[in-house]
Amino acid sequence: MLRLSAKDQALLAGDSGPGVRKAMEIVVALGRIYGAERLVPVSSVQVAGVSYRNLGEAGLEFLREWADQGARARVPTTLNPAGIDLRAWRELGFSESFARRQLAVIEAYRRLGVRTTCTCTPYLVGNVPRVGEHVAWAESSAVSYANSVLGARTNREGGPSALAAAIAGRTAAYGLHLDQNRRATLRVAVRCPVRTLSDFGALGHLVGRAARNCVPYLVFEGREDACSGVALKALGAAMAASGAVALYHVAGCTPEADRPDILASDHETLVVDDLQPAYAALNSGALENENRIDLVWFGCPHAGLEEMAEVVRLLDGRRVRTALWITAAREMRERAAAEGLVAAVEASGGRVIADMCAVVAPMQELGFRTLATPSAKGATYLPSYAGLRVRYGTVEQCVEAAVTGVWSA
Ligand code: F3S
Repeated sequence: MLRLSAKDQALLAGDSGPGVRKAMEIVVALGRIYGAERLVPVSSVQVAGVSYRNLGEAGLEFLREWADQGARARVPTTLNPAGIDLRAWRELGFSESFARRQLAVIEAYRRLGVRTTCTCTPYLVGNVPRVGEHVAWAESSAVSYANSVLGARTNREGGPSALAAAIAGRTAAYGLHLDQNRRATLRVAVRCPVRTLSDFGALGHLVGRAARNCVPYLVFEGREDACSGVALKALGAAMAASGAVALYHVAGCTPEADRPDILASDHETLVVDDLQPAYAALNSGALENENRIDLVWFGCPHAGLEEMAEVVRLLDGRRVRTALWITAAREMRERAAAEGLVAAVEASGGRVIADMCAVVAPMQELGFRTLATPSAKGATYLPSYAGLRVRYGTVEQCVEAAVTGVWSA
């Protein structure tokens, strides 16, 4: 049975206003549905549900009403990507009608006290919870990173439940907030080489499909360095997209992997000895026009400096024939500009785009038909969400596609 503290009860009774009462009603209802015994304070929140394409007018009105009721985030709260670059949308070709509604959504979040970071990698721009800290994050790749790589504790929140936790400052303690639910029930023996970023995405794709929403424990039997943050970001995002994996452990690497009881005694086993089935699944069928590519997209999840520098290194000053986008947090774009990376990408004819995610953008407004990416998450969602035909491969292959305009297997 859910027990509420005196403070919880006061907030639920409306002592801090109707906006907070509504947030508490959501948090408490979820706690009762999932059998939580108590609420826990959260140290940060990541809110998803930002693109006007997904929210529509009803979602925008919902946010405005909540802000009118005096609701404000009471813990540091960051925001997922939007459907446009909030400043460069016109140059990118997005319509004024969409941009106007998207900017209204951002304004509503600002009134709710949310830091309008517009990124799915809040952990790269200052929202970095510590091991064991309770947080309430939405956005599947960020949830996976927070739980698995940072060792924080969050369920896979939806947009309204994360916002409710931000306004209430607490969440219900069930699911991945509890020790017993963080144990792995699937041991994954990785027996093939996993070298490139797209290999990590391909592996994540296969594991996510098998694991669905259980907790995998990966053992790399080769000598790959699976401990780089960039590799784990790609791995976790892919698992969260093909399955609903919100937490994974990597032997000898992630913070909870060495806990003695981390692998449940009745766990199942999966052996991965070939990544090709994932590459096949993540590539759409035949492309028209002799494998011609319109757009090459890096930065899903949003890129850090290391990933941008790699693209610049591979471009090596060459001009691109396709559109080339690297999406990143605005703060990260500013850091990249200071290091000369934005200028280098632009000198090749590409763009470093802030605030935005191609999966939730109104891509049909731009007329692209084919896209290449090294992101397994992007390749999973783009065909259905954006109607694009996709080529999935290494960062190197994607850069070559941008330079030649053609996908070469
Ligand atoms: Fe981020 Fe969008 Fe990819 S939210 S993880 S860039 S699908």
